[in-house]
Amino acid sequence: DWSPASFVESTIDSLKSQLGNDKVVLGLSGGVDSSVAAILLHRAIGNNLTCIFVDQGLLRKNEYENVLESYKHMGLNVIGVNAKDLFLGELKGVSDPETKRKIIGRLFIEVFDAEAKKIKDVKWLAQGTIYPDVIESVSVNGPSVTIKSHHNVGGLPEKMNLKVVEPLRLLFKDEVRRVGHEMKISPTILGRHPFPGPGLAIRILGDITPEKVTLLQEVDHIFIEGLKFNGLYDKVWQAGAMLLPVQSVGVMGDERTYESVVALRAVQSTDGMTADWVHLPYEFLSRISNEIINKVRGVNRVVYDISSKPPATIEWE
Ligand code: XMP
Repeated sequence: DWSPASFVESTIDSLKSQLGNDKVVLGLSGGVDSSVAAILLHRAIGNNLTCIFVDQGLLRKNEYENVLESYKHMGLNVIGVNAKDLFLGELKGVSDPETKRKIIGRLFIEVFDAEAKKIKDVKWLAQGTIYPDVIESVSVNGPSVTIKSHHNVGGLPEKMNLKVVEPLRLLFKDEVRRVGHEMKISPTILGRHPFPGPGLAIRILGDITPEKVTLLQEVDHIFIEGLKFNGLYDKVWQAGAMLLPVQSVGVMGDERTYESVVALRAVQSTDGMTADWVHLPYEFLSRISNEIINKVRGVNRVVYDISSKPPATIEWE
């Protein structure tokens, strides 16, 4: 019978015998899956596990500092890498969504590889792959369709010449959360919304500049904090803001303004494959819209995305 407790116990046992005294490296993303995988491995092999957390400059506001802090608090051996300038530099002038993904994927592998090489005798790469990822990467890379290069790090193990260990490979998301809960991982980490690997890069339509990243981080922060404050965060599967490549006219005092439009998106889903837009209360939307326009310079218009998937995707790129 499957239970979180028996899963934890048997997985730790088998990781111990599979890995022995070998060194393992794991990429932390701040998300649920990589966090749960890290804690399981840490329980099995202690400090033979090194975690690497890369800031590509496209995370949410304060995310890097907060997440790094909470990982250290959990006792994980984590190396934080600030690679903002590298990523934003290489992305300069790039507008095509798939090109953005490829650049980010390639740089991530380079940065990760360079850090991992500093660990002596590392033999294994651990990943927080879960069952739906296994299925999806089969269909995504299937014969004629490439929908999106979702995981962006496909070539990692080959390039690094490491064996792969994926302790969550047979679990669904809700089981991963239950396993995390069993291991006393904090509800703030376990309850986090999914966040795409390429981060805000695919929520800034068109080319990316450091100024646009900062602007979108502010908008996103107001939206997400507002959801939390109003008890809506846990009722939504994923939420975020998109910066549109559009300027629209507004007025401020007696002046006409010509500034950016942001779109807010909140969806309900079980696996991200299909999704419905969430009927957030008008009152809430109204307050958030005012707060964004009043506080974030450069934004004079907020719209709410009322499209479901399919045919619209969750992200706009
Ligand atoms: P879409 O936009 O395809 O998103 O409806 C479905 C889910 O996947 C996430 N997503 C990504 N995750 N790399 C990722 O790691 C990507 O390139 C990527 N594109 C979309 C998206 O946030 C949603 O949860």
